[in-house]
Amino acid sequence: MENILIIGASGQIGSELTLALRERYGNDHVFASDIKEPAEDVRESGPFYMLDVMDDKHLIHFVIRHKITQIYHLAAVLSGNAEKLPVQAWQINMNSLMNVLEIAKLVEEVRQVFWPSSIAVFGPSTPKENTPQLTIMEPATVYGISKLAGERWCEYYYKRYGVDVRSLRYPGLISYKTEAGGGTTDWAVEIFYAALREKAYTCFLAENTRLPMMFMPDAINATIALMEAPAEEVRFHIGYNIKGFNCTPAELTAAIQKHIPDFKIGYAPDFRQEIADTWPDSVDDHYARCHDHWKSRYDIDTTTDIMLKNLKEKLKL
Ligand code: SER
Repeated sequence: MENILIIGASGQIGSELTLALRERYGNDHVFASDIKEPAEDVRESGPFYMLDVMDDKHLIHFVIRHKITQIYHLAAVLSGNAEKLPVQAWQINMNSLMNVLEIAKLVEEVRQVFWPSSIAVFGPSTPKENTPQLTIMEPATVYGISKLAGERWCEYYYKRYGVDVRSLRYPGLISYKTEAGGGTTDWAVEIFYAALREKAYTCFLAENTRLPMMFMPDAINATIALMEAPAEEVRFHIGYNIKGFNCTPAELTAAIQKHIPDFKIGYAPDFRQEIADTWPDSVDDHYARCHDHWKSRYDIDTTTDIMLKNLKEKLKL
């Protein structure tokens, strides 16, 4: 029997992953936690605790008391916010991961850890197109440095202590339930809200900035497929490259204009442009596709259709 702890259950990924895991493993076996209030359905459908991942003593007691067998550690300071407070972001992103890895090492019942990596592990010297799994990685952002260092620590804990930690290098994630906040790919969510509310959006990246993106249901399915893969099939204990589609602001605008023809876009690139310029245009994800024959099901048009339909309902428009 699994008892799963989600750290960061009120965030963009956590608010959806918690519900998907509750459906598979039973509501009472998925413990949601965060330092922020959760969405109503997360709170209503199973246990939720206010828990700060930086408080290692509280965390280890929680893990022991609830006989936790899997930890999904999703809390992080994203790329844009991390550039504003580099030292604090480094401390939060690294110390929280170290706390979780140490607990997984110390508490025998904890069989598995999931920790998200990101396309931010790549940098200006990485091949930009169809970026391979194993390649030059010289990230130029605090967030990217913390994700790359985190990947190295994950592999270290796997090799040295046998901690079965698994990870995906998520691209920009597009979802309608919970907004991300503080990321370089946030424009690809903001644009949908703005298109529906104002029929106009000013993008903080330039029109032809291409980045890898993914619709949230793909990310959830890929995460569960990786976590449920038999141990002998898991080739990497660093992040796996994973691919949905890739697009520029101009291309996503065109996809939205198929539904809202008078939607207008403007461009005012800010400091996040420099971050985006160091990330890949597209990644090669053939290793991730081995797991449970996982493959992406949503392209730019299906993502746009579903985003607009659901946001319209959510915003009561
Ligand atoms: N979406 C994240 C960010 O923009 C990338 O992992 O920071």
